[in-house]
Amino acid sequence: MDLKEITERLKGVSDTPRLDARLLMADGGDLDAKIRRRLNHEPVSKIIGKKGFWKSEFITSPDVLDPRPDSETMIAAVLEHCPDKNRSYHILDIGVGSGCLLFSLLDEYPCATGVGIDISPQALQIATQNKQGRPATLIQKDFYQPNWTDDLEKFDIIISNPPYIPTGEIETLSPDVRLFDPLSALDGGPDGLDAYRALAKSLPTLLNKGSLIFLEIGQNQEQDVSQIFTSADFRLLKIVPDLGHINRILVLNKG
Ligand SMILES: C[S@@+](CC[C@H](N)C(=O)[O-])C[C@H]1O[C@@H](n2cnc3c(N)ncnc32)[C@H](O)[C@@H]1O
Repeated sequence: MDLKEITERLKGVSDTPRLDARLLMADGGDLDAKIRRRLNHEPVSKIIGKKGFWKSEFITSPDVLDPRPDSETMIAAVLEHCPDKNRSYHILDIGVGSGCLLFSLLDEYPCATGVGIDISPQALQIATQNKQGRPATLIQKDFYQPNWTDDLEKFDIIISNPPYIPTGEIETLSPDVRLFDPLSALDGGPDGLDAYRALAKSLPTLLNKGSLIFLEIGQNQEQDVSQIFTSADFRLLKIVPDLGHINRILVLNKG
């Protein structure tokens, strides 16, 4: 089968059939089996086990959320608010998943150090493979547990892309996401906001004077999430849209 033929076959399941065909062909191995998996809605990144994000490539698997182009807005927002690349920032990533956010930031700030937490041991295994000598500690923690911050130090930059899909909307997501990203990376509880409520309660003990918090949010969640944090005495500094003009990142500090 050539590129044209494979592209044609993938048109029904993909918005980027030619790119998908190229990536599957370049990956080698059993091409027929890989095409069958793609026709079954499995994302190319899960089939070939890697995905480009910001300036690097990260290992991905069924145990982690696929790194998303929308989340690159997080990296751009941190760079805008913390322009001195030589500062030795201490960075916390809550729900580190594959590590794509934390590790991209550590690459941008060569003097920085990081901590990534996640509830999923399987996700932490993938993050460990992606760490590649970067100065980061990965710890299993559940941010819904009341004392999860007790043995953590303070941080200059806290980032999080928590699960934020309302439980009832998960079945409406595209099959590429619904069937192949882990539920624990998606499910934000009945209204999608459970993780933000938990974080608004627990983040204060992790902050230095001047610490900044960057939160990824879902479409149309900016008002609700702002409200949760301003009610807990945080100050909203900025809302940053993604490339599709959807408000994607809230920048906050503690008032
Ligand atoms: C939307 S994914 C984000 C992954 C990665 N940071 C990214 O942006 O690609 C959310 C992550 O939060 C983790 N998570 C979900 N519930 C959690 C909890 N209660 N405590 C800690 N981590 C949790 C999931 O395992 C998942 O890796």
